[in-house]
Amino acid sequence: MNIIDIIAKKRDKQELTKEEIDYFIKEYTNGNITDYQASALIMAIYLNGMNDEETTNLTISMAHSGDMLDLSAFGKNVVDKHSTGGVGDKVTLILAPIIAAFGIPVAKMSGRALGFTGGTIDKLESIPGYNTSISTEEFIENVKNIGISLIGQTLNLAPADKKIYALRDTIACVDNIPLIASSIMSKKIAAGANKIVLDVTCGSGAFMQNYEDAKKLSETMNRIGKLAGKETICVMTNMDEPLGYAVGNNLEVIEAVKFLKQDMTEDLKEVVFELGAYMIKLAGLGENIEENKEKILEKVKSGEAYKKFIELVQKQGGDISYIEDTNKFEKSKYVLELKANKSGYVNKINARKVGELSGFLGAGRITKEDAIDNTVGIVLNKKVGDFVKNDEVLAYIHSNNEEKGKVAVQKLQEIYVIQDNSVDKIKTILDIIE
Ligand code: URA
Repeated sequence: MNIIDIIAKKRDKQELTKEEIDYFIKEYTNGNITDYQASALIMAIYLNGMNDEETTNLTISMAHSGDMLDLSAFGKNVVDKHSTGGVGDKVTLILAPIIAAFGIPVAKMSGRALGFTGGTIDKLESIPGYNTSISTEEFIENVKNIGISLIGQTLNLAPADKKIYALRDTIACVDNIPLIASSIMSKKIAAGANKIVLDVTCGSGAFMQNYEDAKKLSETMNRIGKLAGKETICVMTNMDEPLGYAVGNNLEVIEAVKFLKQDMTEDLKEVVFELGAYMIKLAGLGENIEENKEKILEKVKSGEAYKKFIELVQKQGGDISYIEDTNKFEKSKYVLELKANKSGYVNKINARKVGELSGFLGAGRITKEDAIDNTVGIVLNKKVGDFVKNDEVLAYIHSNNEEKGKVAVQKLQEIYVIQDNSVDKIKTILDIIE
């Protein structure tokens, strides 16, 4: 078997066998297949697709490319959560400590920024000292001792996904159902939880732009989950405008901390509570979704969720004084205001364009080796449905380069669609696919 024949087969729209997929994953993980050959195959998959069997085989092969964690010691219901990606998506930072505050073990492996979307790991690393690359032993110990650990893909868990994920980001091969489904489910299978809640985002700021594609992705991941013996539920959420107000690494951490201190943005609250309610259900702690949301509110109001976040940051080496006083976070050199050039209602804020703008300011990567700037990004002041007066501030641009900041102000002016007609606030929860 050789990689050139495998690339040619997919290039010619043929189905790959399990053996061919296993060969590619094994040899690419071991470094025997080059990045350019892997890129060619990934692009061929992107263009010509994979059927259900190929997608399942790719997922299982990637899941087994490294260690497989066994979390059964933590009980019969270990629940994990993952998002298919979005703009301003700081849900994990908030939801993970909430769930841990219920005594439900949270052993979560998150990703870095991908395409125009942000990554939880990049956000966590903007907390000075926070170590996302601890050993497997420490990871398990932390879950044992404080009930929570949030790490990057630095353990030897699904290393094939780690390589392919970074590659896809730089070859414009992100928004593809077989590639997203296998990437997410391989990590979830390797990480050892037996119940999974997936946030499947849909809209301009998501990889799935419409309801049908997001539903298809949900069904694909549910099917793979079932085959792997993991109960999986997909919550389809709207990503037409950025989630919450902040977009950018430490800016999002600050918003997440605010939330845990009970200053909750409505759309973010709806998404966090819906996902959390299903996690609680899968953990066997409550069948009624609305009642579960009430319980979540209690965990925030009582300060238990915030306390759990502090414990998490401390345990992983982070400086908790930044969480206690978020004013301590390093700020960008320039904060520029974008003001409305007329009165009216905000009709649209294209989330993808906001994500790209945040990347332009330095919050994302162009090549996989690029460093990211923790301080830059965008903080919205007005969201879809809001009325705005002429000259009122629509958003703040955080930049370390004045020229770039000015360009971003202009670009954001075009992204904000303000019209005379009022529109409803965006409906956050689109569907539940079980
Ligand atoms: N999140 C992942 O882990 N992988 C993807 O492909 C997209 C979002």
